[in-house]
Amino acid sequence: MMNQLIDKLKKDHRLTKEEYIALLKNRDPELSEYLFEKARNVREQYYGRDIYLRGLIEFTNYCKNDCYYCGIRRSNRNVSRYRLTKAQILACCREGYLLGFRTFVLQGGEDGHYNDTMIVDIIREIKSLYPDCALTLSIGERSYESYKAFYDAGADRYLLRHETADPIHYRRLHPSSLTLEARKQCLQGLKEIGYQVGSGFMVGAPGQTPESLAEDLLYLQELRPHMVGIGPFIPHHDTPFSAEPEGTTELTLFLLGLIRLMLPAVLLPATTAIGTIDPAGREKAILAGANVVMPNLSPKEVRDKYLLYDNKICTGDEAAECRHCIEGRMQLIGYQVVVDRGDSRALDQSST
Ligand code: 5AD
Ligand code: FES
Repeated sequence: MMNQLIDKLKKDHRLTKEEYIALLKNRDPELSEYLFEKARNVREQYYGRDIYLRGLIEFTNYCKNDCYYCGIRRSNRNVSRYRLTKAQILACCREGYLLGFRTFVLQGGEDGHYNDTMIVDIIREIKSLYPDCALTLSIGERSYESYKAFYDAGADRYLLRHETADPIHYRRLHPSSLTLEARKQCLQGLKEIGYQVGSGFMVGAPGQTPESLAEDLLYLQELRPHMVGIGPFIPHHDTPFSAEPEGTTELTLFLLGLIRLMLPAVLLPATTAIGTIDPAGREKAILAGANVVMPNLSPKEVRDKYLLYDNKICTGDEAAECRHCIEGRMQLIGYQVVVDRGDSRALDQSST
């Protein structure tokens, strides 16, 4: 019965809200294994057993927002705040390039210190030094004009998780200054401008229900992003959600499998968060349909200051250590890290 819904998702790439809810409510280990096998199959059709790397550069932990789940929220006085200079960011890229990274992700809190002129300048410099690399921004909500200026300067991709597609759940996770509507508007603008767009959500966030997860899946079905980042919610001790339970590996993997069948060519990261709650989490994610890993390229001195949640892995490791660690881990499960920008196979038909 549930197996047929999985077959249907694989064939039609879409289900109804009720069907997603039924799958989520009735899942068991046997159904999950059935799903993961199909998801691996689809993933292999599109990407073989290649793993794409993204080098994450966490360049500022200042943030003007106050999301209840996030460790670097404005109200958290216990964070030691930092900003990387352009020279420091370029040094991260240089090291990353030598380690075989061909995508750099500039990620940060929503930090007004970096105005459009500064961001444009950094983008131009990185793209002129590394023309064979893709550049991804993950710096939150900005105006359409800013997004356009960054794209014109050479940024290729933008990551902005929608966090939850259920407006009531969105209110439970964010102060009133942030709205789901504004979030969706940003994502629409980014797509329109021509970015390869990444969205996503946390699994097991406080107040999440099978119904709200079904809304997330329907939203992804409609948005058709190039990448979908999902990972378990993990409490941070200095946030209003400090006493909330963390999300599970099991549900995260199930959702990864569903998303692979819904969007066969999607780029699906095995996130740091799943590697944090389960030592074999990233490997399990790959075996459930994921095909991307995003190791940290941030300078070692700032690693332990970019803590969105507790117990984050790799905060004591050099970029080279993570790079080689990932290579070994992927080899052990029969996959290989490749030196490639790792564009979505869905782009092959639609653009040059
Ligand atoms: N647990 C897990 N993921 C989190 N994020 C923020 N805080 C947490 C947390 N406590 C995720 C959000 C954000 C991304 C950068 O990290 O989904 O979009
Ligand atoms: Fe960082 Fe394994 S990925 S040490």
